[in-house]
Amino acid sequence: SAAEKGGYPYFMLKEIAEQPRSVADTLLGRIDDTGRLALDEVRLSEEDLREVDKVIVIACGSSYHAGLIAKYAIEHWTRLPVEVEVASEFRYRDPIIDRSTLVVAISQSGESMDTLMAVRHAREQKARVIAICNTNGSTIPRESDAVLYTHAGPEVGVAATKTFLTQLVACYLLGLFLAQVRGTKFADEVQAIVRELAAMPDAVDDVLDTVEPVRELARSLADAKAVLFLGRHVGYPVALEGALKLKELAYMHAEAFAAGELKHGPIALIEDGLPVVVVVPSPRGRSVIHQKIVSNIQEVRARGARTIVIAEEGDEAVTPYADTVIRTPRTATLLAPLVATVPLQVFACELALARGLDVDQPRNLAKSVTVE
Ligand code: G6P
Repeated sequence: SAAEKGGYPYFMLKEIAEQPRSVADTLLGRIDDTGRLALDEVRLSEEDLREVDKVIVIACGSSYHAGLIAKYAIEHWTRLPVEVEVASEFRYRDPIIDRSTLVVAISQSGESMDTLMAVRHAREQKARVIAICNTNGSTIPRESDAVLYTHAGPEVGVAATKTFLTQLVACYLLGLFLAQVRGTKFADEVQAIVRELAAMPDAVDDVLDTVEPVRELARSLADAKAVLFLGRHVGYPVALEGALKLKELAYMHAEAFAAGELKHGPIALIEDGLPVVVVVPSPRGRSVIHQKIVSNIQEVRARGARTIVIAEEGDEAVTPYADTVIRTPRTATLLAPLVATVPLQVFACELALARGLDVDQPRNLAKSVTVE
């Protein structure tokens, strides 16, 4: 009913709008007044956490994209090697795991069979498993050593939105907690990030205030044949998530590439009028990556692409090469996916609606897939 949907015509629109609150709920009670992380749910001893020598993230779909982003953050803060793998591939390749491996299983539903089987395999090899999950008491958390719940509330739309953002928050919390327990050479940076993380609900709120032009843009592209997405650094998994959303909801051919790979093949796809969405990392801190992606925007535009650029407020270097610029609030580079994903959700949702599709129940998809 309309009441269940909070006055929105679709659950997905409601769930996109709820994201500032969901992000706040995931953070709630997990950072104390002094900026220390308090993750009592991680019932592994500090000694065990100090002995971890490798992290493996396993997940499917959007949860896998959250894992790809987690890799950048956890490796940087903890200097632990992090592997990320789709759950359906994991156990069939004889992965190297033992009791000092920390496996992070990310699953909104806690019921994806692929992820569950990967968790079982990891535990048989004595790895310790932490689940990041949105559904209380579901199977994956029950079969794991510990669980970090995302507390996003039930998500009805088949395509993940608020659960994706809150999985990112949980991954950041876990990475920062590991850094706190194990010690990090970036102690000051970690302190600053904790403060920035606490401010992310407001940043997500701000980005929602500026997405109206994205709706118009999406409607203008309703008849496009395909859309390409490019990103670098954490913008690359964000691009993957943007493309997945478009496939799921608008049934449109959408591909994402690491922008550096363009020249190794995908650039051959660029033709007149092809929409190319580019997720630009912050110009601060990682200026080399920023310069490189600005060149990538130039390259595709010179070949006729219609460039849609997602860039931080104040980043004027992209403007000359962008047909459309979508602005996101300034954040720490590693936290930027929390804001950069939102316009891509709105884009896919609105484009699907313009094509007359039901965004809550896309064809052929299930909210949770309980078969392998
Ligand atoms: C299904 C859903 C996707 C989701 C994936 C993983 O395929 O349609 O939206 O990302 O499962 O689900 P999970 O519950 O394990 O996060």
